[in-house]
Amino acid sequence: MSASIVLKRTGQKMPQVGFGLWKVTKSTCADTVYNALKAGYRLLDGAGDYGNEKEAGEGLRRAISDGIVKREDVFVTSKLWNTFHAREHVGALARKQLGLWGIDYFDLFLIHFPIALQYVDPAHRYPPEWFGDDGKVYLANVPFSETWGAMETLVDEGLVKNIGVSNCQGALLLDVLRYAKYAPAVNQVELHPYLSQEALIKLCNTLGVAITAYSSLGPQSYVELGGSKGAENLLQHSAVASIASKHSKSTAQVLLRWAVQQGLAVIPKSNNHDRLVQNLQVEQFTLTDDEMKQLSSLNVNLRLNDPADIDPRMAIFA
Ligand SMILES: NC(=O)c1ccc[n+]([C@@H]2O[C@H](COP(=O)([O-])OP(=O)(O)OC[C@H]3O[C@@H](n4cnc5c(N)ncnc54)[C@H](OP(=O)(O)O)[C@@H]3O)[C@@H](O)[C@H]2O)c1
Repeated sequence: MSASIVLKRTGQKMPQVGFGLWKVTKSTCADTVYNALKAGYRLLDGAGDYGNEKEAGEGLRRAISDGIVKREDVFVTSKLWNTFHAREHVGALARKQLGLWGIDYFDLFLIHFPIALQYVDPAHRYPPEWFGDDGKVYLANVPFSETWGAMETLVDEGLVKNIGVSNCQGALLLDVLRYAKYAPAVNQVELHPYLSQEALIKLCNTLGVAITAYSSLGPQSYVELGGSKGAENLLQHSAVASIASKHSKSTAQVLLRWAVQQGLAVIPKSNNHDRLVQNLQVEQFTLTDDEMKQLSSLNVNLRLNDPADIDPRMAIFA
């Protein structure tokens, strides 16, 4: 069982190592989730955009009915997609997503990106992704404060226990805190040694906002999308490999350990059962201060997941 992070408002414990569901193959997703829970994962990181919430829910519900876990043992995260930021759509989508999972609450619900896109009726296309039917991006004029207020309503209605944000930088986080009735519990952001985000970590620690690091293994996740931006594979980087061999661990375990040892949560994804099991085993060793520094010094501010690469009007990290 992995260590956990206590979330500020509710005091709920969020496991520090969870299982990420982006690009988990739809046809095998139910079995993958079932086997992840059997292997000991107690956090599932989903999103409407991943297109596999129904299958993930099937895996979770099978694990519950087989007595492997109880619902309250598993921390389920999901995310609101960009096309549903308007007040009148937030509740409807949260209910739809809960329906797909076949559960009656999320432990954590995040605003996936601070980008509002034009509404797409789920009956027309779901998940809607980034583009309209003509392949163009259509922005919508929905202020973040409106979406946050609707997220707070989900808490009051008992549909979600904690709410948070994703892909948010300091300025936006500080602004949300000016008007929030419930402060964001979590900020989920891209974070690995090539993008170490030290200033954001410091700010979130000061504010009591937990950070979940995504794409902890660096460029690897983006290779299949043709989006690794020519970066050297972190899993084969000589500095990472040398630390891994000293600890008799894999390079993936070292990269995950580097984040966990900073007090961050991680949510590695794998379609391969052995790698999935390996990624959970990152708490039985400790990196030295020097090793932590060596890994942090690989920072080159390389951001792999940047919506500006799709359309310059979405340059949220500019
Ligand atoms: N909030 C957001 O905007 C956002 C954005 C991106 C991701 N996320 C979340 O974060 C999760 C993790 O990020 P990610 O999926 O981008 O990347 P990741 O977990 O860092 O890396 C996944 C990639 O690494 C491979 N891999 C996994 N374990 C490995 C190991 N032990 N050794 C070697 N290769 C390994 C996987 O391939 P195999 O599957 O073949 O093992 C896959 O190609 C996502 O699943 C999603 O839940 C959130």
